[in-house]
Amino acid sequence: MSVPNIVREYRAQGDGYQNLKLQSATLSKPKATEVTIKIHAVSLQFRDLMVSKGIYPQQKSNIVPCSDGAGEIVALGQEVKGWKIGDRVCPNFALDHIHGDVTKEILSTGLGGHTDGVLREYVNVPVHSLVRIPEHLSYEEGSTLPCAALTAYNACHGPVPLKGGDYVLILGTGGVSIFGAQIALASGATVIVTSSSDEKLQVAKNLGVQHVINYKKNVNWDEEVLNITGGRGVDHIIEVGGPNTMLKCINAVRYAGWIHVIGFVSGGDNGIPVPLAIMKAITFRGILIGSVKQFEDMNRLLTAHKIRPVVNKVFSFEEATEAYAYLESQKHIGKVVIKLA
Ligand SMILES: NC(=O)c1ccc[n+]([C@@H]2O[C@H](COP(=O)([O-])OP(=O)(O)OC[C@H]3O[C@@H](n4cnc5c(N)ncnc54)[C@H](OP(=O)(O)O)[C@@H]3O)[C@@H](O)[C@H]2O)c1
Repeated sequence: MSVPNIVREYRAQGDGYQNLKLQSATLSKPKATEVTIKIHAVSLQFRDLMVSKGIYPQQKSNIVPCSDGAGEIVALGQEVKGWKIGDRVCPNFALDHIHGDVTKEILSTGLGGHTDGVLREYVNVPVHSLVRIPEHLSYEEGSTLPCAALTAYNACHGPVPLKGGDYVLILGTGGVSIFGAQIALASGATVIVTSSSDEKLQVAKNLGVQHVINYKKNVNWDEEVLNITGGRGVDHIIEVGGPNTMLKCINAVRYAGWIHVIGFVSGGDNGIPVPLAIMKAITFRGILIGSVKQFEDMNRLLTAHKIRPVVNKVFSFEEATEAYAYLESQKHIGKVVIKLA
């Protein structure tokens, strides 16, 4: 396959996704330990909205946005071994997060936030960042894995992985949350999902989720969680709501349970009630996506259970701003994808 010299890419200036700029750029040859990927699909995150508005912490200026891309290898650096032209791959969210704990240096390699991302036709990435896309998934489905799926996997299978029979509470039905439900179910948990929409809750039920709560209709959803668990509380919480949902999560978690602190979509600035957290011996675990090693482990689980990501809507490359607007509208369930090739 011939690889062009001039390719198209988006740039974000931090003045809103409406002003994303589609422009031409020169594609360099891959360095010795890099590959060139032809990007087939990109999935959007809540984070991409933040980057587009210029409110993501320490974001690079005039950045190629988006962290999550899937594509095929079209060129290999001279020293690359173990990969070939045509291999279907995703680069990891943080290019240098190969295994183990995240560090400040690793954080600075986060695609589409600290370093140029994947909303472009071709990208050169280091070979150590590559993960194979499971065979049963399309490029559109594969593009949803690096951030949302891996974050949910890291929560469910971190230092104290959930056990079969555990209760897992998932807030919302967005990208991270739906993967959280699928991964927790595949790992033998009983899952409770909250959402603002009965329609979205029905989709969660269709995935096998055992208990659903509409948090708009039932503002005391934490009490409902306690009822479902016979007063004990849940073992793990996928907490994407942030300050405005944290207090209820502290009520809904069991003594010595785990709250995986992932996002802050519900807003607010309340602090954690420290005495209560101590009295319940809760573990709060901040999650920062995951490593290549965890990505590979996750793909084995997805493959074993033939888990398919929930792709809600697919937009073309030229419709990228419409895709951002759709994500912002919160009409989606699961993932919003931009298809390039
Ligand atoms: N720490 C990490 O490594 C990491 C990785 C990925 C994402 N995140 C963060 O996780 C959050 C979710 O990201 P995403 O990409 O999955 O977003 P998303 O696809 O836009 O989904 C957001 C979902 O949040 C739910 N929600 C909104 N307000 C809520 C509330 N008050 N209570 C409960 N749920 C509420 C909504 O569910 P319903 O529509 O069903 O109500 C919505 O679908 C963001 O804050 C993002 O920055 C963090």
